[in-house]
Amino acid sequence: MRDLAGRVAVVTGAARGIGREIARTFAAGGADIALSDIDAERLAEARTEIEKTGVRAVSVAGDVGTESHAAELIGTATSSLGRIDTLVNNAGVWIIKTVEETTPEEWDRQHSTNLRSLYLMSRAATPALRESRGCIVNIASIAAFRFTVPHVAYASSKAGVVAFTRDLAVELAPDRVRVNAVAPGPIDTQGLFDGLSDAERAKACERFMLGRIGAPRDIATAVAFLASDDASYITGVTLPVTGGAELAARPLQ
Ligand SMILES: NC(=O)c1ccc[n+]([C@@H]2O[C@H](COP(=O)([O-])OP(=O)(O)OC[C@H]3O[C@@H](n4cnc5c(N)ncnc54)[C@H](O)[C@@H]3O)[C@@H](O)[C@H]2O)c1
Repeated sequence: MRDLAGRVAVVTGAARGIGREIARTFAAGGADIALSDIDAERLAEARTEIEKTGVRAVSVAGDVGTESHAAELIGTATSSLGRIDTLVNNAGVWIIKTVEETTPEEWDRQHSTNLRSLYLMSRAATPALRESRGCIVNIASIAAFRFTVPHVAYASSKAGVVAFTRDLAVELAPDRVRVNAVAPGPIDTQGLFDGLSDAERAKACERFMLGRIGAPRDIATAVAFLASDDASYITGVTLPVTGGAELAARPLQ
């Protein structure tokens, strides 16, 4: 467990899946957490769970692709928790469709949630991060680097996350603000297996190189590492946490 006592982390998409596990992991390290999600009901549950661990938690429900939510979340984090040390841009949607199937509205929702949100949140949080000499950790995807399933909108949004991470790291280096990303491979969350039967899920899991699918904790601990002082000389990188999935020639599903 990383020592994150006295720090404040903002985590988007924290109501379930990887984001909820990131919030748990930071709280276990002693950090106070500002949680955000579009799912207000689950977000309230997540906040209650985090508060029970003994750290302070605030939550703001809203759409990460909107300027008003970014302003409210970052404003609430700084006014209620006093500072921001880490911004984790995790919220994402995954639309599996070919280019012809994808509607312009779906394309925009994909890019708004997965990429525009990084711009809005980072822009809003930069003054606080500059003050704390903090860091940003973005959640990319293996889909930024190789074909997985037909989802041009998703893959291109995640490739954008990688480029955004690299360029913002250079921009903010003079302020001693680090910017990194984690690129998960297949991780066992509801988001990944939506629409798959138990049998299809079991079959998909058999194919993974290390003999298991990734767990949300595999991503959360990588994010906590990148946010910790142990990573103080790391910036601008996207760390694959994939169980080697990008190395193998076999399909992911
Ligand atoms: N699960 C995987 O295999 C996998 C692989 C690679 C990358 N990722 C990435 O990891 C991140 C988390 O994925 P997950 O598997 O935990 O997904 P998930 O669907 O389980 O959780 C995503 C969370 O984001 C929230 N969200 C969605 N749209 C939002 C919006 N517009 N505003 C605010 N919140 C919103 C959802 O309500 C949900 O709580 C995503 O960025 C995803 O692309 C996941």
